[in-house]
Amino acid sequence: MKVLVIGGGGREHVLAHKLNQSELVDQVFAIPGNAAMENVAEVHSEIAETAHDEIVEFAKAHDVEWTVVGPEQPLTEGLGDKLRQAGVKVFGPGEKAAQIEGSKSFAKRIMEKYGIPTAEYVEVDSKSEALKYVEDCKIPVVLKKDGLAAGKGVIIAMTREEAKEAVETLYPEENGKVVFEEFLEGEEYSVMTFVNGDYAVPFDTIAQDHKRAFDGDKGPNTGGMGAYCPVPHISEDVLERTNAEIAQPIAKAMQEEGYPFFGVLYIGAILTDEGPKVIEFNARFGDPEAQVLLTRLESDLMQHILDLEERKPIEYKWKDEAVVGVMLASKGYPGSYEKGVKVSGFDLDGQTFVSGLKKEDDDYVTSGGRVILVIGEGKTVSEAKSNAYKKADGIDSEGLFYRRDISDKAIKHEA
Ligand code: AMP
Ligand code: GLY
Repeated sequence: MKVLVIGGGGREHVLAHKLNQSELVDQVFAIPGNAAMENVAEVHSEIAETAHDEIVEFAKAHDVEWTVVGPEQPLTEGLGDKLRQAGVKVFGPGEKAAQIEGSKSFAKRIMEKYGIPTAEYVEVDSKSEALKYVEDCKIPVVLKKDGLAAGKGVIIAMTREEAKEAVETLYPEENGKVVFEEFLEGEEYSVMTFVNGDYAVPFDTIAQDHKRAFDGDKGPNTGGMGAYCPVPHISEDVLERTNAEIAQPIAKAMQEEGYPFFGVLYIGAILTDEGPKVIEFNARFGDPEAQVLLTRLESDLMQHILDLEERKPIEYKWKDEAVVGVMLASKGYPGSYEKGVKVSGFDLDGQTFVSGLKKEDDDYVTSGGRVILVIGEGKTVSEAKSNAYKKADGIDSEGLFYRRDISDKAIKHEA
């Protein structure tokens, strides 16, 4: 069969790579893809991710049976619905179900209604209401802007002064929704769950992302600076609770509310003293979680999608090895950064996933904030880490930086 991947980042790079390995798949297309994906997909960068009608036309003209949508934006804008209406199968939710990611307030309300554990919250609709709230709310407090923000719409205010500043930042004008949340403490972990209506099958291996820009979880929030799996210090028991208390009930809740979800639901969870709680839901694979999880996945991704469609048992098979992925990002990211800087010293070896590079003549140059993720495997997390950093250190560029402590939380527990 022919499969189309939508998106042009590292997550889509690994999706195309995995789908290309499937015996069920004859041809992978990518829109817009990126220059580094050419050995695993036919790349159509002339079509934009936002050009929904063109994408539908392309899919029909090329007999695409399944489309796998990587990023959140096309999902929240209804690309899934458009493709389905045209008779193309889509791994990814429609516009309404994608609100679980697109609207923090939608997600909070549904969790509240169905008793799914998450941080206490208060929603405000205007700047004046927000300023009033921060006068005497509990500190620290977390502020989340409604709507998509690429991991940058969340501010953790450790003091009341910071909370007031955060309100100023999130409200360039008087109107708009902001969710205030109780600050939760604990280990964060990401659980990818295949969902078809009320049928939900979480990956039974999880990943841990590193959201802050700098070592020691310092600096601003980013889309993710590296990830690893498995996460040995999050126990089976916690995963079972996450499934029973979060994955199963949210799938049923979405179905009952009339927003059945089809695709992968990302559960961003935190292990508090009271047990697992939801930090966020995403309507798609995590990036960079997908790169490490799908590298570790030994079984056939396409087969799992077909099994999900038919609500058959899904048996994920994982390599024994641990996998660590280190993101190299443009200096300045997640703030402003220079583009067009040359990058060399890497091989497209099936374990190097590109999110922000383009070809200029024969060279690769930077074209985005997060640029390239290198993967190391090993018998232990520390061996995988050391292999990942050998690759990261071998990359030659004036324009990139990366964290040195990806996976250290697990290594601490290995020792
Ligand atoms: P989000 O976009 O909602 O995932 O938030 C980005 C990051 O902010 C999360 O990965 C957490 O590290 C942090 N965060 C979000 N909500 C909370 C919360 N209620 N308590 C503590 N940290 C949070
Ligand atoms: N790595 C976090 C995300 O994809 O949202």
